[in-house]
Amino acid sequence: MKRLDGKVAWISGATSGIGEAAARLFAEEGANVVIVGRRTEKADKICADIRSFGGEAMVSTCDVAVPKQVESSIQAVVEKWGGIDILVNNSGMVDMRMLHEYSIADWEKVMNVNVRSIYLSFLYAYPFLKQKKRSYVVNIGSISSMVGQAGTPVYVASKHAVLGLTRSIALDYADIGLRCNCVCPGITDTPMLREHMGSGTKGDAALRKRLRRVPMGVALSPKDVAQSILYFSCEDSTGITGTSLVIDCGYLTAAEWESPDYTAFMGS
Ligand SMILES: NC(=O)c1ccc[n+]([C@@H]2O[C@H](COP(=O)([O-])OP(=O)(O)OC[C@H]3O[C@@H](n4cnc5c(N)ncnc54)[C@H](O)[C@@H]3O)[C@@H](O)[C@H]2O)c1
Repeated sequence: MKRLDGKVAWISGATSGIGEAAARLFAEEGANVVIVGRRTEKADKICADIRSFGGEAMVSTCDVAVPKQVESSIQAVVEKWGGIDILVNNSGMVDMRMLHEYSIADWEKVMNVNVRSIYLSFLYAYPFLKQKKRSYVVNIGSISSMVGQAGTPVYVASKHAVLGLTRSIALDYADIGLRCNCVCPGITDTPMLREHMGSGTKGDAALRKRLRRVPMGVALSPKDVAQSILYFSCEDSTGITGTSLVIDCGYLTAAEWESPDYTAFMGS
């Protein structure tokens, strides 16, 4: 028996990075995976890969900031597979600038993608989640759900909100057998991180510099984070709800830190 046999998992932002790793891992664990994202070509490729090893997947082209598209996405899943067991709210965006440089539209864009999208997926999936004896909502926060980070105020506010929403969902829907938890990654080597750090050797140098602040001295892989998402999406985490799991290679453990040039986690 695999961990997710027969479960239907809707995963947003599944066309790259952490979401893609979660989609692949969930399929290996026997789930019927819904690859939710805006880039249909990428989603088709991931879907084909999953099917090639005998897994089950479908593509749902969807901008999570658009209510109608989220509603249609959930409806399509229910039409195909008859219900939903797991929602993974992973899609996210960063917009680096000072607060006074934001327009109202910029603010709303980040909040809609990072926070309102959780409300929308829950809103449309709730009638189906409540039909299940056990259901799971996993939200992807960040270390920015716990602390401030310079130059990215709206992202930080949005990720704090993700944690608050996680706790509220956990409280209000425990009675229907639903557990809701938040995975809070630190520095993870994904397209989002690379965009943020810059490209090429300049980007590599910026990442190396940033990793000096991390006790283990390494970035997480998307699969590392996906394993924690899996944990909260099945009965391995029985009894846990409304909590957050920081997975950050020790980043938040120290107020100040400078890693040595080498740790045993490097190159492994
Ligand atoms: N990479 C990191 O260091 C890091 C650290 C902490 C938290 N996170 C969080 O992890 C999650 C995944 O990010 P990632 O690092 O894998 O980056 P990523 O850029 O690979 O993934 C983000 C995904 O969200 C999708 N997305 C963005 N806006 C969308 C929209 N309107 N509709 C549908 N999909 C949309 C993107 O297309 C992309 O597939 C995000 O919530 C991010 O905030 C990442």
